Amino acid sequence: MTTKRWTPDGWRSLPIQQMPDFDDREALAAVERQLAGFPPLVFAGEARKLKRALAGVAAGEAFLLQGGDCAESFAEHSADNIRDFFRVFLQMAVVLTFAGASPVVKVGRIAGQFAKPRSSGMERVGDVELPSYRGDVVNDIAFEPEARRPDSKRQLEAYRQSAATLNLLRAFATGGYANLDNVHRWMLGFVSDSGISSRYREVGDRISETLDFMRAIGIDPEVHPEMRSTDFYTSHEALLLGFEQAMTRVDSTSGDWYATSGHMLWIGDRTRQPDHAHIEYARGIRNPIGLKCGPSLTGDELLRLADILDPDREPGRLTLICRFGADKVLDHLPGLVRAMTRAGRQIVWSCDPMHGNTVKSDSGYKTRPFDLIVSEIRSFFAVHQAEGTHAGGLHLEMTGKNVTECTGGARPVMDADLHDRYHTYCDPRLNADQALEIAFMTADLIKQERRSRAAPVSQAAE
Ligand code: PEP
Ligand code: CO
Repeated sequence: MTTKRWTPDGWRSLPIQQMPDFDDREALAAVERQLAGFPPLVFAGEARKLKRALAGVAAGEAFLLQGGDCAESFAEHSADNIRDFFRVFLQMAVVLTFAGASPVVKVGRIAGQFAKPRSSGMERVGDVELPSYRGDVVNDIAFEPEARRPDSKRQLEAYRQSAATLNLLRAFATGGYANLDNVHRWMLGFVSDSGISSRYREVGDRISETLDFMRAIGIDPEVHPEMRSTDFYTSHEALLLGFEQAMTRVDSTSGDWYATSGHMLWIGDRTRQPDHAHIEYARGIRNPIGLKCGPSLTGDELLRLADILDPDREPGRLTLICRFGADKVLDHLPGLVRAMTRAGRQIVWSCDPMHGNTVKSDSGYKTRPFDLIVSEIRSFFAVHQAEGTHAGGLHLEMTGKNVTECTGGARPVMDADLHDRYHTYCDPRLNADQALEIAFMTADLIKQERRSRAAPVSQAAE
């Protein structure tokens, strides 16, 4: 296969989906020039480190946990929100690591997750029709003509917010907060003594005992950085390509191009046309790349996309984020898994159980029933078990706050509760309790996968 030369602006001459209609082109160009001079948010070496970690996932040796808001917002940018998210994310990672006995690669949908694809370019309320909200980096959510006008200056605010968020995340990850000795202190976020919190307390007790034991035999966590800090990476959808291009830089050590807006970027289900702009942009950056795979993707198309995005079959480069819906995953996933296996490709298979399970509640809210989310995850693991591949990761829309956006869970959110704390700017997110419940359930599935892999070959072949 001959590979065309790549430049960061090569996407501009191709057809593009989901592009906001900026009326002031000069202002847009000025903003992009300004962004291009700003410092990188993340570094190429960090993206390479994440790629190595994801190579471990692809090889079946680790698990990817990716999650965060559907859309970050300017209005809800606070230290409390970031801390609450990071805390529940750490809790989930600890549960998966300890109960699932698997190293966990931690990737937030955060510090840059501002641009949203929409199913319709216009939104109608009564007799009024306005451009759809496309995320805070593009326009404002208020249903008013001026608010919905795409404004390129918002990209500068998105950059500023991403930088501030990353700064706090880096401090949390390396400055002591993520120390395993704090595993009980992370409990403070629980609003009530639910079944989930007592299960978590048990895990915490076991970790504390283990740490005491290690100290007793002379292994001091203080001298082992992996116990005091953690690697936490950022990711977002590479949708607003002008912004991404401005943040794309040559890495001086390797001479390669990297997106410096986040460690991992993914291409959405609506913008993955092989000959269009988003795939063209993604193929040239050396970061780990995610590709959303929905029900309309065929095995042949996937192979073509894999050839474009990962021609060198680089370990850790490609993560396929599957989002079919609980009722469709068994029909669609096996074909894609077989296509990739036949082609000899070892990539990360991750499950997004959110985007194929969105329904309208009786009360009129966009919601996601917890049972459907659980069902899609179970089916995802079952398919990989049957195909002999590794169920490598989970991709969730979640928050550390006690919101009421998805129905169900152990402390159930009822349809009638949805209006209570429905705060999302876009899709409904799991609240802290629901997210942790998913982590426990997934830890059990990881353990099962490990057990069946350890079974003797003759038994497995029966
Ligand atoms: C998302 O992850 O928020 C999203 C829009 O996903 P998808 O591209 O899978 O619909
Ligand atoms: Co979403």
